[in-house]
Amino acid sequence: MTHDGDDPTAPRTDWDAAAATFDDEPDHGLRDPEVRRAWADRLRTWLPDRRSDVLDLGCGTGSLSLLAAEQGHRVTGVDRSPAMIGLTRAKLAGRDAAFLVGDAVAPPVGEERFDVVLVRHVLWALPGPERVLRHWRGLLRPGGRLVLVEGVWGSVSPVGISAERLAGLLAPLVPDVRVEHLSGDPRLWGKEVDDERYAVVARL
Ligand SMILES: C[S@@+](CC[C@H](N)C(=O)[O-])C[C@H]1O[C@@H](n2cnc3c(N)ncnc32)[C@H](O)[C@@H]1O
Repeated sequence: MTHDGDDPTAPRTDWDAAAATFDDEPDHGLRDPEVRRAWADRLRTWLPDRRSDVLDLGCGTGSLSLLAAEQGHRVTGVDRSPAMIGLTRAKLAGRDAAFLVGDAVAPPVGEERFDVVLVRHVLWALPGPERVLRHWRGLLRPGGRLVLVEGVWGSVSPVGISAERLAGLLAPLVPDVRVEHLSGDPRLWGKEVDDERYAVVARL
């Protein structure tokens, strides 16, 4: 996992260059039916039961966007990488979905508001996560929720954001913050993992 966050000396990921092979990782491309089903099952519990407007920030190749669309939601995705957005548009061709090149920190969605802001493996690498979370909360309709899937990867030089820190950042912003630990479910990753992986569902 490479770093895009606060440390200016850390290596930066060229997401345009990474796009073509991004889906080769089991939890990225969700090509294995068991991995795909594991994410679909979790996502169903994190998203509202009714048809909703979902904003997928740093959507990458659109794997979670596609699951959300398959579950009946209207999806808007934003990613800074034009190559990622190109792959996402192809993956969701014909769906009730729109994808924009833009910055997840300040998504180019104008006055539009959403039932869900969905973000997987992106927040940890953004500068100023507290400010970013406040902005994302402002994109929600009343009763909306943030669904954030994050982790701390690696053991020698771990990178990421811990569940404890993220829950602490959310506590002053959102009244109902629930952490779901995901490391113990190898079906999600296509292998056993022993680092910290989790989802937070934070409801207004
Ligand atoms: C690790 S990938 C995760 C992709 C997707 N969320 C998933 O879970 O499959 C990180 C993605 O975030 C995007 N990204 C990183 N920083 C961004 C930013 N500031 N604004 C928009 N997208 C960003 C990258 O281009 C890349 O597609």
